[in-house]
Amino acid sequence: MKAIVTGASSGLGRDMALYLAELGYDLALVARNQARLDTVAQEAQRIAAAHGNKTITIETVTLDLSQRHACEQLFEQYRNERIDLLVNNAGFGLFGDFTDTPLDRELDMINLNVVSYHILTKLFVRKFKNDGHCRLLNVCSAAGLLVGPRLATYYATKNYTLKLTLAVAQELRRDHVPVTVSALCPGPVETRFNATAGGKFLTPGASSRAVARYAIDKTLAGKLIIVPTWQVKAGLFAARFLPWSAQLRIMDRFDAGR
Ligand SMILES: NC(=O)c1ccc[n+]([C@@H]2O[C@H](COP(=O)([O-])OP(=O)(O)OC[C@H]3O[C@@H](n4cnc5c(N)ncnc54)[C@H](OP(=O)(O)O)[C@@H]3O)[C@@H](O)[C@H]2O)c1
Repeated sequence: MKAIVTGASSGLGRDMALYLAELGYDLALVARNQARLDTVAQEAQRIAAAHGNKTITIETVTLDLSQRHACEQLFEQYRNERIDLLVNNAGFGLFGDFTDTPLDRELDMINLNVVSYHILTKLFVRKFKNDGHCRLLNVCSAAGLLVGPRLATYYATKNYTLKLTLAVAQELRRDHVPVTVSALCPGPVETRFNATAGGKFLTPGASSRAVARYAIDKTLAGKLIIVPTWQVKAGLFAARFLPWSAQLRIMDRFDAGR
């Protein structure tokens, strides 16, 4: 079994990769920072050995996935190999009012959170349809079901990715294609996300390790929408009954910024 994990050098991607190593998966770990990828690869190898999986192979792939050609390069590298699981996870956010945040940074975010997910989902799902019995996990966010003042672009990117993922999943289900597509929708998680985004949420983050393990277990069980904590489940349920004006005011406080 082999899995590709993007954004594997840190946070959720790292923790999902380590859990997959524990389960005995061969790994392709993708991110920009080679040194961090090497550290995760060493850790994964140790964990695999500790769980009796001495023979797993781990490749590191250094790519900036906000570039279209890098997404295509990743696909080309693996198009002729059996891939059982792709985890599209690399992404980032940016706190600040929309009129203050830099346009270039937002376009980078759209290229990574939206365009790279779009490209990799299309290319790999086409491949998976031929290969059969493969799984795709797109790391979206609870943000994909909400609106986000002070994180406007980030929430909008996650709305795109979540809605794309759900629609693709339905097309595959309708046609009885043996490929499952899942969307991970966590609330705040303790990772480098806040440091990169320059802000913080009102509530403390969940454990990255716990969310990662839950996400992989549910993905391997073929679950469509994965919401890891009861607090986020309850919040998303309540949000359905709120008028937009109330939801916007609450979310404006939740995404507190610095
Ligand atoms: N933490 C949260 O509260 C939270 C909540 C909901 C959803 N999420 C989502 O979870 C995913 C993972 O984020 P995280 O929280 O684990 O944050 P993180 O610790 O900052 O990890 C982000 C990962 O993405 C990689 N990455 C960033 N830009 C990249 C690029 N241009 N090309 C390739 N890789 C890139 C980073 O590696 P390099 O810097 O080495 O490239 C890193 O491995 C994101 O999609 C995020 O939106 C996070």
